[in-house]
Amino acid sequence: MEDKMTRVAIVDGDGIGHEVIPVAKNVLELLHPEYDFFPVDVGYHRWEQTGCPCADQDIAELKTADVILFGAITTPPMKDYQSVVLRIRKALDLYANLRPVKGEGFDIIIVRENTEGLYSGIEEIGTDKATTLRVVTRKGTERIVRSALQLAQQRTGRLTIGHKANVLKSDVLFRDICVVEAQLAGVSCNDRYIDALALDILQHPDRYDVVVTTNIFGDILSDVASYLVGGLGLVASANIGDRYALFEPVHGSAPDIAGKNIANPIAALRSAAMLLTYCGDKEGSGCIETAIQDVIAQGIRTHDLGGSAGTREFGEAVIRRLRKTGGYT
Ligand code: NAD
Ligand code: IPM
Ligand code: MN
Repeated sequence: MEDKMTRVAIVDGDGIGHEVIPVAKNVLELLHPEYDFFPVDVGYHRWEQTGCPCADQDIAELKTADVILFGAITTPPMKDYQSVVLRIRKALDLYANLRPVKGEGFDIIIVRENTEGLYSGIEEIGTDKATTLRVVTRKGTERIVRSALQLAQQRTGRLTIGHKANVLKSDVLFRDICVVEAQLAGVSCNDRYIDALALDILQHPDRYDVVVTTNIFGDILSDVASYLVGGLGLVASANIGDRYALFEPVHGSAPDIAGKNIANPIAALRSAAMLLTYCGDKEGSGCIETAIQDVIAQGIRTHDLGGSAGTREFGEAVIRRLRKTGGYT
């Protein structure tokens, strides 16, 4: 991708999105002043103001971007409210949700199917009964497992399938397709029931490399696995489709800490790093990660990591570090 052509949509969203995304955007602007950044304002706050959290025009604008940096959006558990996050993922067909969790002695990437499963949107709610259809298709499974296998081949060549095929027929299909695809690709694979896997990944993270799973299991497993690296403030994700790509922290809008300048911006910064890797700038991506590590090593940490630095102050320290060591001015 040619640098000067790169259009980056910036979506703060709600809650701490307004605090962590500006930190990540500042870093991207420092590393790539030639990028064309433009804001897209969607979220629950828009629904409160206008009754519409995300208009068709907003989706159309997002589609004009090469990449999207996304904060988080509040999804209230209301009967008639459609999640903006899910709408965007579906509208842009961002089927592969990559959630890396890396630390001392382990390097895991959770590959979560992002468009179907229990998030099919095929559901109904009555007074006494509500149902949600869990849809697993051959097409959806083949494309997600192929993404996972491609990653496995670039990494240590191991794949784990997380499922619940003992009770869910939809996961029998998911597991069987994954096994066949792994054999075809020549990648060694094993499978685990998702509940046992959620514990084992915490007890033996070194046993895992690429973990492929369905939508809601990947959602839960990635929050669980964030424990390994210090919590939700540190884990980033990429939502990749054949045409579009969106980068966002794994965490949500965190209304309990929003507006206090205490949120950890590392997940947003790592999302920006993943965005750069996608755009072909691996070096810039590495510089962001190194700067984060250096700042932590200097003892500058946000509250969730036991420190007292604010969101903005942490971001300023990262910028200083990049200017000093990366030569960015
Ligand atoms: P959450 O991830 O927002 O917060 C869970 C806990 O982690 C909270 O105690 C929060 O303070 C803490 N936390 C999260 N990010 C942090 C950070 N950067 N630094 C320090 N602490 C952090 O999850 P939730 O409370 O279950 O959800 C809140 C809202 O966010 C809900 O409306 C939910 O639907 C939405 N949500 C959105 C996304 C998204 O837009 N991709 C993702 C998850 C949740
Ligand atoms: C996530 C979130 C979303 C999800 C919600 C907000 C729709 O939890 O990105 O992890 O469940 O995918
Ligand atoms: Mn989640």
